[in-house]
Amino acid sequence: MLVANKLAPAGARHAPAVLPNTRAGTAAAGPLVSVRNLVKRFGTAKVLDGVSLEIERGQMVAIVGRSGSGKSTLLRCMNALESIEGGELRVCGHDIGARDKLALRELRRDVGIVFQGYNLFPHLTVERNITLALTSVKKLARAEATSIAQRVLALVGLQDKAASYPEQLSGGQSQRVAIARSLALAPQLMLFDEVTSALDPELTGEVLKVMEDLSRQGMTMVLVTHEMAFARRLADVVIFMHQGRVWEMGPPEELFNRPRTAEFAQFISSGL
Ligand SMILES: Nc1ncnc2c1ncn2[C@@H]1O[C@H](COP(=O)(O)OP(=O)(O)OP(=O)(O)O)[C@@H](O)[C@H]1O
Ligand SMILES: [Mg+2]
Repeated sequence: MLVANKLAPAGARHAPAVLPNTRAGTAAAGPLVSVRNLVKRFGTAKVLDGVSLEIERGQMVAIVGRSGSGKSTLLRCMNALESIEGGELRVCGHDIGARDKLALRELRRDVGIVFQGYNLFPHLTVERNITLALTSVKKLARAEATSIAQRVLALVGLQDKAASYPEQLSGGQSQRVAIARSLALAPQLMLFDEVTSALDPELTGEVLKVMEDLSRQGMTMVLVTHEMAFARRLADVVIFMHQGRVWEMGPPEELFNRPRTAEFAQFISSGL
């Protein structure tokens, strides 16, 4: 799909901090994600049935659709958390069909994923939750890791929570720490699967604000969401999944104003 990359209007937003060590824009040209005829089965069920799409650098793509339509599965395929049975899938320059160990490790470094449950380690401080992978996997010195943790915490507006433990945080704050932890690894692509669906409206707003800031700073992101107003206002591309297929795809103003299929029209009117 060809949709112009969004450019942050100068000074339009008070972005709290800059992304750490982002490689976005420095890598090879071409789409960051390219999916062709992707097929995924669970047993005999074809859960993804010939999905094709492309995502350009800097885009925010929102995936919407009914429960069971394959949204999470598609997202998980993009991070090689699921094997695929057919088609081609290239993400951040890695061929996901290949699944060799080294490529997988590089892929996981380039792609961050955040789920609904934030999975922070309860016995570690916020700061240590973030620095753990930096010191143990990336082998950074503790001081460098701490400085990165401070930067990503500033990015999600939680500088003052570095020494707190997860149980001392609200759900929205925990989710923002989970996002910060992912950002600390300097991904090129961020995947979000219904990160706000367990939160009340106020906390949802906090987390969406962080995602909006990230997008304005140029992060490429794919989010599965029920936040239709957010998708409509900020996504460059909206994908409506139905029965394991990309049923409709395009800029939100086009899709929402002129649904082409009865299924999408019904989905919108159901208020989901
Ligand atoms: N590990 C699995 N084993 C077997 N079937 C699965 C597995 N994961 C998902 N499925 C099935 O695949 C289909 C798509 O699931 P998926 O989780 O991708 O849907 P979804 O669109 O994310 O739904 P929701 O909005 O409820 O999160 C569903 O029918 C689901 O039951
Ligand atoms: Mg899901």
